[in-house]
Amino acid sequence: ITIDVNKPLHAVSPTLFGIFLEDINLSVDGGLYPELVRNRSFEDADSLCFWQFRSLQGEAKVRKADLSNAKNPAVPLNARNRQFLNVDVQGDFTLSNDGYWGMNVEKGEKYDFSIALRTPNSYQGNMKAKIVVGDNVLAETDISDVTGHWKYTKATLIPTEASTNAQLVIEGNGKGEVCMDMISLIPQKRWGKSGVRKDLGEALDNLHPTFLRFPGGCWVEGEVISQRYQWKNTIGNIDSRIPLWNIWGYTATHGIGYHEYLQLAEDLGAEPLFCINAGVSHKETIPSDEIDQWIQDALDAIEYANGPVTSVWGAARARNGHPAPFNLKYIEVGNENFGSVYFKNFELIANAIKTRFPEMQIISNDWSGSHPSTPSHAMIDEHYYNTPDWFILNANKYDNRKRGGEKVFIGEYAVTSQCGKGNLRGAIGEAAFMTGLERNSDVVAMAAYAPLFCNVEHQRWPINLINYDNHRWYGLPSYYVQQMFAENQGTVTLPVSVTGSPLVDIPSSSGGIGLGTWNNTAEFKDLKVTTPKGKVLYQNNFSSGIDDWEMQGDGEWNVSNGVLSQNSLAAEVTAFVGNDNWREYVVTLKARKLSGE
Ligand code: AHR
Repeated sequence: ITIDVNKPLHAVSPTLFGIFLEDINLSVDGGLYPELVRNRSFEDADSLCFWQFRSLQGEAKVRKADLSNAKNPAVPLNARNRQFLNVDVQGDFTLSNDGYWGMNVEKGEKYDFSIALRTPNSYQGNMKAKIVVGDNVLAETDISDVTGHWKYTKATLIPTEASTNAQLVIEGNGKGEVCMDMISLIPQKRWGKSGVRKDLGEALDNLHPTFLRFPGGCWVEGEVISQRYQWKNTIGNIDSRIPLWNIWGYTATHGIGYHEYLQLAEDLGAEPLFCINAGVSHKETIPSDEIDQWIQDALDAIEYANGPVTSVWGAARARNGHPAPFNLKYIEVGNENFGSVYFKNFELIANAIKTRFPEMQIISNDWSGSHPSTPSHAMIDEHYYNTPDWFILNANKYDNRKRGGEKVFIGEYAVTSQCGKGNLRGAIGEAAFMTGLERNSDVVAMAAYAPLFCNVEHQRWPINLINYDNHRWYGLPSYYVQQMFAENQGTVTLPVSVTGSPLVDIPSSSGGIGLGTWNNTAEFKDLKVTTPKGKVLYQNNFSSGIDDWEMQGDGEWNVSNGVLSQNSLAAEVTAFVGNDNWREYVVTLKARKLSGE
């Protein structure tokens, strides 16, 4: 192998490997967003979902804003927070919430509790908020401030014991009606200025991402247009953000909204990349003569991120705690969109962005084999979900890609089949592919594994990089591949040439040996199985095993003259020599590259 350090080919893209954060599989609510209470604002449904109410002489109902009843109007917490809980009691009651399959609380840590309350008819009584596990009270506070107007009560709760299965309970004894809203419990221990769940923030940080694509994915599109992601509903006070049904099967609170995504990118030292809706959902589209609001939302989003504090949206950013610009450079128009409506909408949105913000790098979707060409723009977004072998075989996919046009952004890729629940074989497939991305990073500017997160209790996508429950996480082997590439990112590509076909000794291992190659003209040969004393037991005949040969791979196997080769895909050979005393054998397997011979 010759590496010519004197002839650098091209710089490696400084934004090559990043992350894609979509609110899928409870990635944000029930994941990165550390709120422990589920359905804190009673907006999830018209019934009491995720809450349990108990009272001998009382009832609790979710009510919608309605001021028409002069005697007892349903007064909402604010104009955007339309539902609340109405508790009507004559004695004891408890209202409890398990969060996301139990709440994780740590002994001695501080938890911010808050609740908004109002009584329409002079509730008389007392109330407490408690963190409990069964009958065991870990922390509690009195709630006394119930007036005729909505008012927050806040307290810091410090559990005396740890639990991964705690509940928040509002307990009371009184007479009359109390309206409740925004019942929240959030740990003070969080990560970054974005304030995300600590262990998951650290898991992201350890990937050293160079960019953060957000917030989706299909979540940007929605099933129907009214369920598309609309960033303006996700900023400001958390009680004024409008929750939205998420295409992946739950209501999103937007506790992590546009501002927090930008802040998270800054916390991670990553370039933010915002993907906006292009007037296309899964089932509906908006014709281009009605696309003005989409154009305005795109321009306002950029102004929010980058505009001076004297601009309307720059001022909103400053009010939300970040006077300095976020320096958003990348905006993607649409997700996996294609067809004439998308092309036209893209043109209108992209032209408006280019006119007002010529410095923005605009990304289109390359989906179903095509992408918009007008106006010219920086990058096209390609997505790949496939088998390990597909990724291995496509390690050289971009070697001959035309240079000079749009660059490639691989906004989503992952091995999602023939990899169990996500295994080393999948990770190796991705790693092989990533070597090709590095080699071609003059044309492939950015790439992100997808999806990033999965709450194991709500898995809606088969294979996900970081999997967690309410208090711990694990990464697939793919996580460590992403980390390894990020930590060993070069700055320049050097020419490499391989001459000859040297035989390579594959060291023996206990039990089976696996040999993989992503060269589609590889063979395995010169297999030898010997005893530790050197007695040759087996050599060079793959057609019949000593006890058993297991050969895996999706291509066809060729066995001739004692040489096993596989003509299309990656190969794995596992030798099982003996049953009870197989450890006593030594296996030597030599591999040879066929091409060029
Ligand atoms: O990453 C999961 C989903 O796959 C994304 O939401 C979508 O863009 C793609 O089809």
